[in-house]
Amino acid sequence: MARLVIVSNRVSPLRESGPMAGGLTVALQEAVKRREMLWFGWSGETSERREPRISTVGNRTQALIDLTSQEHRLYYTGFCNNLLWPLLHYRFGLAQFRRAEEEGWRAVNRRFAEQLLPLLREDDTIWIHDFHLFPLAAYLRELGARQRIGFYLHVPFPPPAVFAALPRAAALLRDLGAIDLIGTQTADDAEHLSDALRQEGVNTPVGVFPVGINAEAFARAAATAALRKDTQRFAESLGGRKLIFGVDRMDYSKGLPQRVLGYADLLKRYPQHRGKVTFLQAAPISRGEVTQYRLLRREMDELVGRINGEYAEVDWVPLRWTTRPIPRRTLGGYLRVADIALVTPLRDGMNLVAKEFVAAQPPEDPGVLILSHFAGAAREMEGAVKVNPNDPDEIAEALDIAINMPLAERRERWRLDYDRLAAAGPSGWSRSFLAELNRAEFSTTG
Ligand code: ADP
Ligand code: G6P
Repeated sequence: MARLVIVSNRVSPLRESGPMAGGLTVALQEAVKRREMLWFGWSGETSERREPRISTVGNRTQALIDLTSQEHRLYYTGFCNNLLWPLLHYRFGLAQFRRAEEEGWRAVNRRFAEQLLPLLREDDTIWIHDFHLFPLAAYLRELGARQRIGFYLHVPFPPPAVFAALPRAAALLRDLGAIDLIGTQTADDAEHLSDALRQEGVNTPVGVFPVGINAEAFARAAATAALRKDTQRFAESLGGRKLIFGVDRMDYSKGLPQRVLGYADLLKRYPQHRGKVTFLQAAPISRGEVTQYRLLRREMDELVGRINGEYAEVDWVPLRWTTRPIPRRTLGGYLRVADIALVTPLRDGMNLVAKEFVAAQPPEDPGVLILSHFAGAAREMEGAVKVNPNDPDEIAEALDIAINMPLAERRERWRLDYDRLAAAGPSGWSRSFLAELNRAEFSTTG
């Protein structure tokens, strides 16, 4: 089998340990377990050093480059997170465009191409990930790369009219013509992106490949984690109360303020649940250098304080709030102990937490997933209680339904979703994408 070369901005650690908050690294970590591969990306550090640091464990090699602080500011903080992220999540009002950042972004993509090129073999398959690297394939082709190139978009793609607000959107779309196959999470994303490409006369095929998880392995790990001391101590601390659990990067796309307001509405409108439930929301700090994320943190700290101030009893804290990451092993245990998962993004490419919760639940007494209509996962998770995440009252009503749901209904809903997750098989996502890429015509290199 040809070597797989993965390129992404964020790279997961070579050894599986510690927290990995972010769907891309989690999905890829799982996908590439057994294959010979090279993973090229950003080290997460800033320095003036140019050469990649190369390290190998087993059949997996990583080549990581530092960014200069200027590259980091223009490319990552600026164009990627201040502009593309809100735009792709249908939040153009939050986007800030600066020409210098667009140029900095292109320069980093060119640098990725230049530094990756000497590491490539002729028969490699190249798989580029996410919006940070939209123009990378075009730069690789410019430098003469003839390998098959796939691209996967982990985040949503908005309707073409929204995307068109981006200055030089057309040039960006034309760059995608250098790719042999593009994958998206949902049919809507694929349709929007195909329409946008068609308007520019670009013929790159776009397919739908929803990111999955290794459900059976996750279930096993969660069952083991639930027996460990830290999970047990946590479970005991609940004092027999039902646990509502939310876990997300602290990101404005996740609908966190509306979610905690929904919980406050539950306590207000359904006072019978006071003292009987605990809501744990974990939200590790993400992209803390971006203003919108700092504002969100301040807003959440204030909201959580206010809600607790209003409803707490001397022996009951209604809302537990932590901004520290949770180690992955522990997270599985918490997801298993939870009675209700509250997954209410305003817009999300997929949302793996929704799938992880279902995988982690005990089959004999499963909990209830409350899921936003606007998560990619909503398409697949038919057993979930669906909500419009913009409406705290609707969240409160869904919570009341979930708290009261009889065991038989919980089992039925859970079974539907678990079977579907398990049917995709471990690494079904990457395998089906790569198989399709293998079949794709070499549109760009003849
Ligand atoms: P995103 O990619 O936008 O962060 P996803 O839900 O798709 O959203 O993926 C997030 C991944 O990161 C999941 O695998 C989840 O378990 C993990 N994660 C999220 N929050 C935390 C946290 N507080 N601690 C550890 N892992 C987390
Ligand atoms: C989302 C994006 C990924 C990104 C992750 C974490 O999942 O789709 O590309 O890696 O968030 O964000 P960060 O900016 O820390 O890489």
